[in-house]
Amino acid sequence: MRVLNQLFENNRNWAKKIVEIDPDFFKKLSNQQAPEYLWIGCSDSRVPANEIIGLAPGEVFVHRNIANMVIHTDMNCLSVLQYAVDFLQVKHIIVCGHYGCGGVEGAMDNRPQGLVDNWLRHIRDIYQKYETTLNGINNSKRRADKLCELNVIEQVSNVCHTTIVQEAWRRGQALAVHGWVYGLENGLLRDLHVCVRRGDELSSIYRMAINEELEEKE
Ligand code: CO
Repeated sequence: MRVLNQLFENNRNWAKKIVEIDPDFFKKLSNQQAPEYLWIGCSDSRVPANEIIGLAPGEVFVHRNIANMVIHTDMNCLSVLQYAVDFLQVKHIIVCGHYGCGGVEGAMDNRPQGLVDNWLRHIRDIYQKYETTLNGINNSKRRADKLCELNVIEQVSNVCHTTIVQEAWRRGQALAVHGWVYGLENGLLRDLHVCVRRGDELSSIYRMAINEELEEKE
């Protein structure tokens, strides 16, 4: 007996439905992928990249990890980034965080959580960087939301600073990096106004986005 029968049945129904609409869909897709977008998002099961932005298989290249982090030494994320930029030539990289992120909330909790603490340490560093503002927010949910937003902006900056993106811009490749945050409660995306298209505009856009965050009233 095959385990997880329901999932196999779901899969057959899904494939059948797609072929009914477009008989050559899978044949065409199996020959090539040419997505215009790279999505870097959280592993959270409630934030599925394709569904949120209404894109079919083949239209978005995806990397997900806890709290949508782009760490300079993470070969997994960097390899995805390089493949997307150098080979697939995506035109947009979207870093998408989400409110109510367990990773971000876990980073705000000082109780030991084992291995994952080493990953969450990167978010704790961001908390420390903006400690004055964050500690000034009395509502704990709002404080976590603010850290979700700041984290996205920091990760956009990390993407832009990678050798991969820097090189792409140097050779004149059209590539924009965006920072968004998704609301679990309403299913809507919010643009954090941190869209970077060239290396020389990074620092001013980053500063403006961070200032906007820090000045925003609770
Ligand atoms: Co999350």
